[in-house]
Amino acid sequence: MHLLMCPPDYFDVCYEINPWMDIARAPDRDRAVRQWTALRQILTEQLGARVSLIPPQPGLPDMVFTANAGLLHGGSFVPASFRHAQRQGEAPYFRQWFAEAGYPEKSLPESPEFTFEGEGDALFYGDVLLAGYGPRSDAAAYALLEGLLGCRVLPLALVDSRWYHLDTCLIPLAPDLLAYYPGAFDAAANKALQSLPGEKIVMTEADALNFGGNAVVIGRDVVLNAGCEALEAELAARGFRVRATDLSEFIKAGGSAKCLVLILER
Ligand code: ARG
Repeated sequence: MHLLMCPPDYFDVCYEINPWMDIARAPDRDRAVRQWTALRQILTEQLGARVSLIPPQPGLPDMVFTANAGLLHGGSFVPASFRHAQRQGEAPYFRQWFAEAGYPEKSLPESPEFTFEGEGDALFYGDVLLAGYGPRSDAAAYALLEGLLGCRVLPLALVDSRWYHLDTCLIPLAPDLLAYYPGAFDAAANKALQSLPGEKIVMTEADALNFGGNAVVIGRDVVLNAGCEALEAELAARGFRVRATDLSEFIKAGGSAKCLVLILER
């Protein structure tokens, strides 16, 4: 497993683009660095993942959330096109990193109508790309993405602004096991999720509010924010090892374990 992370040197909450962010509630910098370092250590030292780092940039406090850089597919990089101006400045740094690292780029046409926030909204479940739209990415982007990647894309409408990215409320755990929080999706998306093959773990609202739906899965190990009791029990009952780690400072920006990581290679 090869992952991309960005050190939290400039991480902060200086604008509000999701309901979790409150500029009056600043993250504690030292604690954020400790939490990010602990997450990286779990991924590398305990779970054997390889982590590459992109240099952080001043003035881009959300760059730490590398899941939004884009999406990797078959060794190519599909860059994100951010919804909010506050994050648009990240895109050139991510593109440059991927170009220098030797990843060919497959781009969606550049248009303000086609925002796409990368792996934050697009998660593979077996061969199907589950794709959240509404708050950040546009459904129109997914029609194009399907052609670009040549795989099935299942668009899912996100209807509660607290779960504004798909990776805040849905975890593909295995090719035949999915966990999600139904309250984040509209009726059609709920129906589509239920109709997918495999077993579904339905998350509680308490765990979803605690970012339980934002987990990094490496084989049978699941890394997530501490305190998601019901989900931890469901995972343990299915033979997963849960690595709970406190990510309180990143939740102040609306992100947790999964948002801090981009999957370069499985
Ligand atoms: N503050 C960031 C934003 O609102 C958090 C991004 C979280 N990333 C994620 N993949 N859910 O854009």
